[in-house]
Amino acid sequence: MYPIWIVPYLTSGLVIGLIASFHILPSHLAVGAFWFNVYIERKAYRERRPELLAFVKRYTLLILIFCFVFGSLSGVGIWFSATVASPRGLSALIHNYVWGWATEWVFFLIEVATIYVYYYTFGKVDERTHLRIGYLYAVAAWISMIIITGILAFMLTPGKWLETGKFFDGFFNPTYWPQLAARTFFMFGIAGLYALIISATLKEREVAREVARLAGGWGFAGLLLGGLSSYWWLKKLPPEAQDFLFGGTLPYLSVLLKVALLSGGLVALYFLVFGILFPRLNNLPLAFLVLLVLFLGILAGEGLREGLRRPYIVAGFMYGHQVVGADLPAKGIKSEVEALNEEGYLSRLGYLPPELRRITDENRLTVGRILVAHQCANCHALSRKGLRSLPGLLEGLGLTDPEDLASFLEGLDGYPYMPPFVGTEEERLAAGAYLATMVSKTP
Ligand code: HEC
Repeated sequence: MYPIWIVPYLTSGLVIGLIASFHILPSHLAVGAFWFNVYIERKAYRERRPELLAFVKRYTLLILIFCFVFGSLSGVGIWFSATVASPRGLSALIHNYVWGWATEWVFFLIEVATIYVYYYTFGKVDERTHLRIGYLYAVAAWISMIIITGILAFMLTPGKWLETGKFFDGFFNPTYWPQLAARTFFMFGIAGLYALIISATLKEREVAREVARLAGGWGFAGLLLGGLSSYWWLKKLPPEAQDFLFGGTLPYLSVLLKVALLSGGLVALYFLVFGILFPRLNNLPLAFLVLLVLFLGILAGEGLREGLRRPYIVAGFMYGHQVVGADLPAKGIKSEVEALNEEGYLSRLGYLPPELRRITDENRLTVGRILVAHQCANCHALSRKGLRSLPGLLEGLGLTDPEDLASFLEGLDGYPYMPPFVGTEEERLAAGAYLATMVSKTP
């Protein structure tokens, strides 16, 4: 085990979630936008309407700056935050998919190179060559999505990988195709919205209106088909996840679903009214407002997707607190739960000074805090305020006594969305003693 990262109020899991949700805006724009861009560019050449190129140039500059500065930074941010929040989870992913990522980065490099070439060769190479550079970018970007989706979907539904441990069994997993379809269509929705933002800044009103109408059409179709693909995805979810969502086991997930649906609906309405029907009425403040609504929808959708995986990082394999919870004979991996229950969780915390590796009367609370931090803090704030506040929830259950708290920990995996508490009885008692210091004795 590695040292643990405690984030006050937010929890480390939410930090990754916030960065990752923001990352969707530039990353899906980077992938989707060029299809629309080259479509308009081709139209400009075919119909001999150079005025349309004003849009293409400005749109490309937006992609260049927004995606390749903020997108790249937030992408690295996901790596950094995931590395400290869940080092073993990330390690499990890398051990399986290092070549997947390597392949993705090859295509990412092509993206980085071609966008600069495309932007700086405007008017300097002939039209067909320029369009080809655009297509090269669009295809390379989409291939990077084809690859990363396999790894993302693997975490929720590893499928046959749980028996075979094989790369492609995990990659082409039960939710791979619906998720790839949803992301592909949603990327057109996101691209459509940015195109409407850019069109609102164009001086030439005629061009602005035409681009707005086309972007509205792309965006509307993208959201509609993305919504249908998401429905397909929901149908492919394993029964436990369906139950979290529709069976009321985790009510907050159905709230997130409603928020995602509502914001998707509002953005679609915007595409219809201010894009397709009355592009004249589109304007910059409104377009930014809609971007905010879209972002809320993405936050909710990502929260939902991540929440459905509970209590796991890799479903059916590694728990949210980074303990391997199942055998994987194909790779010679054994569940760690039994071993840790026998030898003690502390036996694996190599970074602790020797005096904290054995529980004594003096260090009981300190060790208890370390155990709780390791096994609860990925999902729960340890403070009274914050995400899923642990003191708040424990008080809600009326648990205040150290021994009661320790026996609560023993039954933790009775909750379908929480991993078991792992460790010896002595460790459980220490964790219970620490939890008792968190809650107030007077109700
Ligand atoms: C993988 C994430 C995860 C981990 C790790 C986790 N929990 Fe939870 N816990 C949840 C979720 C999700 C809920 C439901 C909260 C809600 O309904 O909003 C929850 C709810 C609870 C509740 C309220 C239960 C009820 O009946 O209302 C308590 C108490 C709790 N957790 C304690 C703990 C303790 C103590 C630990 C560490 C030993 C822990 N949890 C570890 C995700 C987790």
